[in-house]
Amino acid sequence: MLVFRTEDAPQGLLEGARAVVVGAFDGNFTADDWDHALGGWHAVAIDVQRVVAHASVILRELEVGDRTLAAGYVEAVGTESAARGEGHGTRAMIEIAKIIRRDFELGALSTGTPEFYERLGWERWRGPTFVRSAVGPTRTADDDEGIMVLRFGASASIDLAASISCEERKGDDW
Ligand SMILES: CC(C)(COP(=O)(O)OP(=O)(O)OC[C@H]1O[C@@H](n2cnc3c(N)ncnc32)[C@H](O)[C@@H]1OP(=O)(O)O)[C@@H](O)C(=O)NCCC(=O)NCCS
Repeated sequence: MLVFRTEDAPQGLLEGARAVVVGAFDGNFTADDWDHALGGWHAVAIDVQRVVAHASVILRELEVGDRTLAAGYVEAVGTESAARGEGHGTRAMIEIAKIIRRDFELGALSTGTPEFYERLGWERWRGPTFVRSAVGPTRTADDDEGIMVLRFGASASIDLAASISCEERKGDDW
């Protein structure tokens, strides 16, 4: 497993990781989605000198109820289809969780496969989700189902049924 910051990425590795993630999502992974995965830390699984899995974590300020938390937001988690079920995705997420616990106050992500993360201690958000847009907080009801958090330390006792919001960004907000 290679763990590195975006700016320290070994030559060619991010290109390989992006190709794996685009393939993992059957091409349903946009340029904005990849941009969201940059600017923080990456965990990349290598097998026989090629990338087989990727996950990254970036800083986002999330508001939970009336608190603002520096969240490690997980992006671009994917394993090449031929290499699934071998633990690469799990090992990448274990590295990402270590970084989240070290550098951030809360972990967060949006997913269609919550079962994969629940095994690793992530919990489903139960409260309403919002985006902080130019016109003020706006509901993102379509995202309610997929938001998960990793609580610890400063966030250990946050209420999973509270409101949660992220800042607006290009592409998908969550
Ligand atoms: C989800 C994904 C990253 C898992 O990668 P992986 O390298 O196969 O994961 P692992 O080998 O570490 O899997 C470990 C466990 O997770 C479970 N798991 C894997 N994918 C799962 C899924 N889609 N739903 C539920 N559980 C899943 C496996 O059953 C396995 O459990 P087991 O060890 O008890 O048998 C991979 O299936 C993938 O790239 N999927 C498409 C993209 C995607 O959905 N990304 C994540 C959501 S944002």
